[in-house]
Amino acid sequence: MSIAQAVAQQIRESSWIRRMFEEGIRLRAERGAENVFDYSLGNPDPEPPVAVMAAAKALVLENRPRSHAYMPNAGFPEVRAVLAARLAQATGLPYSADHVLMTVGAAGALNTLLKAVLDPGDEVIVLAPFFPEYRFYIENHGGRMVLVETREDFTLDLDRIAAALGPRTKAVLLNSPNNPTGAIYAEGPLRALAALLARQAPAALVISDEPYKAILYDGNAQPELAPLMPRTVIASSWSKQWAVPGERIGYLAISPTIAEAGALAAACTFAHRTLGFVNAPALWQLVVAQVPDACVDVALYQQKLDLLCSALRRIGYEFTRPKGAFYVFPRTPLADDVVFIQLLRAEGILAVPGSGFGRAGHMRLSLTLPFGAIERSLTGFANAYRIAKQRA
Ligand SMILES: Cc1ncc(COP(=O)(O)O)c(C=O)c1O
Repeated sequence: MSIAQAVAQQIRESSWIRRMFEEGIRLRAERGAENVFDYSLGNPDPEPPVAVMAAAKALVLENRPRSHAYMPNAGFPEVRAVLAARLAQATGLPYSADHVLMTVGAAGALNTLLKAVLDPGDEVIVLAPFFPEYRFYIENHGGRMVLVETREDFTLDLDRIAAALGPRTKAVLLNSPNNPTGAIYAEGPLRALAALLARQAPAALVISDEPYKAILYDGNAQPELAPLMPRTVIASSWSKQWAVPGERIGYLAISPTIAEAGALAAACTFAHRTLGFVNAPALWQLVVAQVPDACVDVALYQQKLDLLCSALRRIGYEFTRPKGAFYVFPRTPLADDVVFIQLLRAEGILAVPGSGFGRAGHMRLSLTLPFGAIERSLTGFANAYRIAKQRA
């Protein structure tokens, strides 16, 4: 057998995404594609903003000399300078191009950073419910994921975090707006977390994984972490903001308030190279410099959120309304989320059980299907709920 044992085991333990994919194919064959409501995949459905595609087309036509060549492993200096200036403006901190590294999506950013900082056995605290890929990213580089539950409403539980901090804690990984819950961590609890880390783990990094930062609802705002937490490294991307996850463009930003920021940037640049990324996609870096703030029409997600949330509430589902990202994470009316998912499946609805994200008794619904499909799926949600209540 040529497959590494660790990878074989990870594949076995990460079967939800694969299972949902296979279920989707089966269900479409059984019922016809128009009768399947796939809430399982977090693949943005809007087309990229016109300004993004216009900039990309113009850059291709311009065919600037050397724009397809190797470049510094951290990315084009002028692109990093554009991002640094924006970060400096948003945070009041003296970011320069040297603090910014262009990456292959947020996933590439996280792997690059984790490779640069983890020694075997080092721990990274992750708050549950969580994006399941984190575990693999951490284990890729010899680290150990330490899971800490958030509260019932997905807010920070400082006592639990305090109990999990230890001498091997290398980083605390925060994801706000959150996949799968849509939670945003508010400024007050973040300040309290900063004070806790200063007392108990002053060398730990705070990794802010924020690819959903531009997707916010109901007037909610996401606080900047770097001014609150002095050892913040941002890992982010344009995957969701521009709906271009297939193009793999993201960045790392190392806070200038980290004493060893220069050494950390150099280590990340080296890790980026030796992981085989070499540099982020050249063309998309140039697009970033031109339209860094372009964004899909969040109103489209908001309309879908409003439709689904009001219908689910009417039916009787319980959930904390998401503040950002594009997922709803309701409680399942049966304690066994996997059994309830099967009831939904019988109605043509595909959802991912909360157990796949570290919180059983819930399910993740992704708002990346068309508005009309959500409307047509609502009877199915009502039927599954009724059947579950009869069984409970
Ligand atoms: C929380 C979270 N972090 C990171 C990523 C990876 O993003 P990217 O496609 O930019 O690598 C995702 C993708 O869904 C995500 O949900």
